[in-house]
Amino acid sequence: MALERTFSIIKPDATARNITGQIVAMLEGAGLRVVAQKRIQMTRQQAEEFYGVHKERPFFGDLCDFMTSGPVVVQVLEGDNAIARNREVMGATNPEDAAEGTIRKAFAENIERNSVHGSDAPETAAQEIAYFFSGSEITG
Ligand code: CMP
Repeated sequence: MALERTFSIIKPDATARNITGQIVAMLEGAGLRVVAQKRIQMTRQQAEEFYGVHKERPFFGDLCDFMTSGPVVVQVLEGDNAIARNREVMGATNPEDAAEGTIRKAFAENIERNSVHGSDAPETAAQEIAYFFSGSEITG
């Protein structure tokens, strides 16, 4: 299995409910290691750039409003097949479709306020990590 890194966000709905520790515990329980982490207030520009791939979607404005509505925790996760493993433990984007035992099944409020983000492929993981972290901020 390949040792990979992926990018993860704990979203404002989760920081507001003080459940970041419970979410990190589920990520760690899934075999992922936090190798970089910081709590930040995302700017409008960061949200619009980060989610730029969705800019033509009807939910884009609401998504950027939400992601800037409170602090988020951005992090780099490392582990065997970390990208797929993270997506598995996050669960489906819409919590109504999320499997038992997943973060979104346990915590997400709806498809927008869905508690976590995770990269979907190696290329996006590399881009998303580099968007929020410099190399010296990431440890082993
Ligand atoms: P995320 O994994 O961060 O990637 C894009 C985000 O857009 C997604 O999680 C949801 O928070 C949001 N999103 C995706 N689809 C919809 C939708 N149909 N309505 C509202 N928000 C959505």
